[in-house]
Amino acid sequence: MTSILRSSTHPRWFAASTVDLPVLLSDHLHCERKAAENALALVRRYPHRGTSVGQLARLAHEETSHVVQVGALMARRGWVPRTDTPNHYARALLAEVRGREPERLLDALLVAAFIEARSHERLGLLATGFARAGDAELADFYLALADAEERHADIFLDLARPLVSAESFAERLDVLGERETDVLADLPHTTRVH
Ligand SMILES: [Fe+2]
Ligand SMILES: [Fe+2]
Repeated sequence: MTSILRSSTHPRWFAASTVDLPVLLSDHLHCERKAAENALALVRRYPHRGTSVGQLARLAHEETSHVVQVGALMARRGWVPRTDTPNHYARALLAEVRGREPERLLDALLVAAFIEARSHERLGLLATGFARAGDAELADFYLALADAEERHADIFLDLARPLVSAESFAERLDVLGERETDVLADLPHTTRVH
């Protein structure tokens, strides 16, 4: 797919994010957990939305399997996951979700699509960076997970598209795309996925 992202991650991000690998992987584990929780929260809020219940439940299932995979990799290396800390990136994007329907659902789905798309980009950068650094296990691991996140962005976009006119959809995608780029640009590079 053509990515919906309006910007590329800064080349220095890989070095900054991988300074402390147990911390980065803890954050990644919680990203996967929150992705699973978000998919199920949408099922809770919108159970009447037909086929999306099946798609979102399957997505939650897959994200949960990613939690298991990150947890298993950390355990193999003797790393213990840490408590989650507030994610300013996701919070700033979720603050853009409007209060009324159908805008609320549209925005929630588009924000989820942007988070998935950015995760796809960043996990791909981790795969490349770890390959270059000679850590084949982490390189393969992140390559496989990056592929999954690309499909996830499309799931959310496909669920969002029928909710409003093509024009309103494109407009909102534009606004949130600009916002995503601004939010990311304002954040320091730390040992987090985003
Ligand atoms: Fe995932
Ligand atoms: Fe995902």
